[in-house]
Formats: sequence, structure tokens, C-alpha cells
Amino acid sequence: MTKRVLYLIACAAGPTQYIDEGVRQAQARGWDTCLILTPSAAAWWEPRMGELEKLTGHPVRSRYKLPREKDALPNADAMLFAPLSCTSLNKWGGGISDTLALGLISEGVHMGVPALAMPYFNQAQAAQPAVARSIADLRSQGVVFLDGQDGYESHPPKQGNPQAYPWHLALDAVGATVSLAS
Ligand SMILES: Cc1cc2nc3c(=O)[nH]c(=O)nc-3n(C[C@H](O)[C@H](O)[C@H](O)COP(=O)(O)O)c2cc1C
Repeated sequence: MTKRVLYLIACAAGPTQYIDEGVRQAQARGWDTCLILTPSAAAWWEPRMGELEKLTGHPVRSRYKLPREKDALPNADAMLFAPLSCTSLNKWGGGISDTLALGLISEGVHMGVPALAMPYFNQAQAAQPAVARSIADLRSQGVVFLDGQDGYESHPPKQGNPQAYPWHLALDAVGATVSLAS
């Protein structure tokens, strides 16, 4: 049986240093996991990108393709944007998709693909009024936004523990959302 495809999309936020752990947990749940990074996140992994491509079995995409290039990834059955940075959250809420990461999910959610997002940023970043507006905008479009007890609750500044990012909560929610949709 063909495995279902998950697009795991990640920003330049702390837990992306450990994105291989997120991939492994998704694979352990049976997902054919494709990784999409923002350009900033790709720069963090640039010296070790080959490891991620070997792990996922797919190219790791971070930039829009050129018009003459073919799609490099299979179609997604679900998309999880995790970790979502404060910057990308607010761009997404504002309808700006200047990165492939944002472009794929902002369109995908309006093409019927289950779309989830789990943030990772501190309480000082979260205090900006734009953050609550963006979260409300995403939810109004049908995005499952995982904050508070259901996902990630912002930490006090300089007290984050990116290694303890709760991938399992995000993946539980993906599983629940996809089985509801099918
Ligand atoms: C080492 C480092 C760690 C960062 N961690 C975070 C973070 O955990 N959360 C966040 O929202 N921004 C974080 N930032 C800031 C983002 O990288 C920055 O806002 C960037 O523009 C996000 O771009 P992207 O969402 O396209 O990846 C960090 C920046 C650096 C240099």
C-alpha cells in the first residue's frame, strides 16, 4: 500500500535544529515525510542537507522552482508547519507567501489539504498584537493551530528548550485531523 504523504514545513526557529527528530517521529507513524524549509532554516542545515535528504528519501525544498522545473515532491495528504516562527506566522496571517514554505501551505489549505501549525516563539514575541490576529486569521481559514495545552505554549524569553518541542502532540493532531477528513 502506498504510504500517505506528509509535508513537514519548518522555519528558522529553535526546534528546527532537531528537525530530523520530527521527521523520524512522523516516519514512525507511517508517513512518507517530505521536508520543506524556509530559506533561513535551510541555511541552518546547509552543511548537513544531505543527511536530511537521505533520511526523507526526497529532495529538501526551500525555494520556489523555476518555471521550467518539474515538481520534485509527491502530492501531500496533509501539511504540518512546525516549528512556525513568529515572522512566518504573521506573514501567513497577512496573506504573504514569499517563501515556498508559506506558498505551499497557504494554497494547500484552500485546496482541501488538512493543514496544521504548531508555533515556537517566546512570550515577548507572542505579545505583539499581530500574533493573536494572525492566529485568528489562520483558524478562520480552517488551519488547525496547536497552541496552549494542545500544542506549544510560548516560553519566557531566553528560557526555551527547543529539544523538548512536543513533536508527538503535533503528529497526534495530524493523525486525528486526517482520519476525521477521510
Ligand atoms: C539562532 C536563532 C534562533 C531563532 N529562534 C527563533 C524562534 O525560536 N522562534 C522565532 O519565532 N524566531 C526565531 N528566530 C528568528 C527567526 O529566525 C527570524 O524571525 C526569521 O526571519 C524567521 O524566518 P522564517 O520564518 O522564514 O524561517 C531565531 C533566529 C536565530 C538567529
